[in-house]
Amino acid sequence: MQKILVTRKMPPAVEDRLAASYDATFNASDEIMTTEQLLGRADGMDGLLICPSEPLSAETIGKLPDSVKIVVTFSVGHEHVALAAARDKGLVVTNTPDVLNNATADITMLCLLGAARRAHEGETMVRNDQWEGFRTTMLLGTHVSGKPLGIVGMGRIGQAVARRARGFDMKIHYFNRTRLTPDLEAGATYHGDAQSLFSASEFLSINCPSSSETRHLLNADSIGWLPDGAVVVNTARGDIVNDSALIAALKSGKIAAAGLDVYDGEPALNPAYRSLKNTFLMPHLGSATVETRNAMGYCCCDNLDAYFAGKPCPTALT
Ligand code: DGY
Repeated sequence: MQKILVTRKMPPAVEDRLAASYDATFNASDEIMTTEQLLGRADGMDGLLICPSEPLSAETIGKLPDSVKIVVTFSVGHEHVALAAARDKGLVVTNTPDVLNNATADITMLCLLGAARRAHEGETMVRNDQWEGFRTTMLLGTHVSGKPLGIVGMGRIGQAVARRARGFDMKIHYFNRTRLTPDLEAGATYHGDAQSLFSASEFLSINCPSSSETRHLLNADSIGWLPDGAVVVNTARGDIVNDSALIAALKSGKIAAAGLDVYDGEPALNPAYRSLKNTFLMPHLGSATVETRNAMGYCCCDNLDAYFAGKPCPTALT
């Protein structure tokens, strides 16, 4: 049986499947390993099942024992793995695309509506017994129906967001490296650059991967391109947003509200987000449904099974 190091606690159904097929070492306490611990525990392993909490830099990949032939990450995002170094070392790396599109798009709509309809303030009022009854002017939010939603990154998750937002009668705009075919575009308006998209977006949803090109895509300059009072949603990666710029815009009212599921340096986040009333904050719950987390785990298992059976991995990155 091949030896697999599983760096984080997995959903029970996934651990059962791994235990049935592999000599798997689990992490019952779910404590995050340091790089040194990971390297030590990887000794003699044939494969690693990691999460974004275990960054594999080029240096770390260079130090991985030669016994390790495959790294499967329990995430669609793979910015935490130095793919070029993995390729050079002949290491197979896989991720979990597709299976989390719907769950992540659902959280995007939750963040969008939560921000637009002042859900944090409303919930706080009810929980703190501060609600004095109906008032025609109480906690008025922003209508979403008929409004333009700009989607940055019209990949599989962006398209799933667009499908949901159409159900709210929103008008879809998007910016993507390549224009979609008309059937996938489904009437959405394509913008060839971020400035054009931002200028049209009363609502803006960030759904692109994290990369050197997208780091701080939302910054003081690009916030300036948005219409006054825009609502911003980020369910992709925290480093796509320059926190100081977004916080300043939330304070000035340039941005009316933000719905965030991801943060630069999470689980730490800029404390100003917590004290602002016009934020709706989730703890990276995009893919957090039983169905989706099981599917992500099974996707990791499918890749391991294929690799050790000498077949192509279904979702290989290298
Ligand atoms: C992903 O799959 O990339 C999610 O953000 C979980 O990390």
